[in-house]
Amino acid sequence: MRLRCSACDAVPADPDALACAACGELLAFELDPARYDAYAIEANARLRRASIDPRDRSGVWRFRELLPPIDENAITTLREGDVPLIDGPRGAAHAGVERLAYLHLGMNPTASFKDAGMTVAVSRARERGARVAVCASTGNTAASMAAYAARAGISAVVIAPVDGISAAKVAQTLDYGAHVVAVEGDFDDALRAVRALNPATVAVVNSVNPYRIEGQKTAALVLLEQRGWRAPDWVVMPGGNLGNASAFGKGFREAHAIGLTQRIPRLAVVQASGAAPFAQAWREHRDLVPVKAETDATAIRIGAPASWKKARAEVRASAGTVLDVGDDEIAEARATIGRDGVGCEPASAASLAGLRRLVADGSIARDADVVCVLTGHVLKDTAYAARYHASGAPQANAIVRGVELADYLNLLLLARA
Ligand code: F0G
Repeated sequence: MRLRCSACDAVPADPDALACAACGELLAFELDPARYDAYAIEANARLRRASIDPRDRSGVWRFRELLPPIDENAITTLREGDVPLIDGPRGAAHAGVERLAYLHLGMNPTASFKDAGMTVAVSRARERGARVAVCASTGNTAASMAAYAARAGISAVVIAPVDGISAAKVAQTLDYGAHVVAVEGDFDDALRAVRALNPATVAVVNSVNPYRIEGQKTAALVLLEQRGWRAPDWVVMPGGNLGNASAFGKGFREAHAIGLTQRIPRLAVVQASGAAPFAQAWREHRDLVPVKAETDATAIRIGAPASWKKARAEVRASAGTVLDVGDDEIAEARATIGRDGVGCEPASAASLAGLRRLVADGSIARDADVVCVLTGHVLKDTAYAARYHASGAPQANAIVRGVELADYLNLLLLARA
């Protein structure tokens, strides 16, 4: 594992730098696939699932040979990463594909995909003796950092636009004991402030930290592992700051280079229309121009994504695509995922809404083998769900009031007869 600049290949002098001293771009770990044996990785992963060592039971650390080396005593795990791949027949019907599976990263310890990256970033922070961890967040990074920092005995400081994000996520973060600092402005302002901090004095654990990406790439391995290492045709995921798309792409690419899987799935990254600078840049074949972001999917209300170059390289390498969907499409997709008995937060449902678009315009075939990535749990934004069900939207499920219970049940039985 070698840390280098993702753009100019320079090797940083400081292993905890967040940007290349030569060109200012993001850093990335690089592994040499020739040093790995696919059979050993696969066999190790299988054996470790039956072990009682907490590292082995983590869906991240089970693949530790593929991660930057970190002292065993510094590893801070909550058994993250081992999330289910669940079939979604109603989602499939909604999108117009024959079958569909959800990779539910909301089934992580703090209920979002961030945990897979955070366990690595916080373990590294602990290894190097950091006393304070900091992040900017739309809510999920905050909760994840707070939990792992609490476990590691590190103080956590969140910089967040608290009034513009889910109150459930803020409350969760407070519960884990983090200092929550409200900022004027939006996530992009908060991230700018955090990126200006000196990484020698505090551990910045946003996805500009390459350790985060290394942890999150294991979601690609967990996905493949549950399919007998057979890659799907497409993997569809929401995009905000674009760390996750970078991580998935890297995970699939490395798995393919090592020989764990025969091909790389095509990545589709879906943004909310009011926060879609990456989709616009993709469509117009130009570099990203930041926007002022606005969407009800507050987790991805991001106008200046930090990892857009990395994500673009991964989408290109996979022959994938980038698009955006409206908030109304996200709302219906989210409601549909709920009806599959799965549920997710609004940002996650951009994946299914995006898939529906891609099937409708012929980019994805109806018989394609597709996985939609769900990034956060349904309980992450209950206020959004409550508003939806009180709204009269197509799948709104209004609370029933003022009925005679026996009559109501009789009607229901008749309807089901
Ligand atoms: N889905 C959810 C639920 C998220 O919380 C985020 C990002 C994304 C998708 C987008 O992932 O940024 O890697 O492209 N949430 C960050 C946060 C920004 O602060 O919790 P991305």
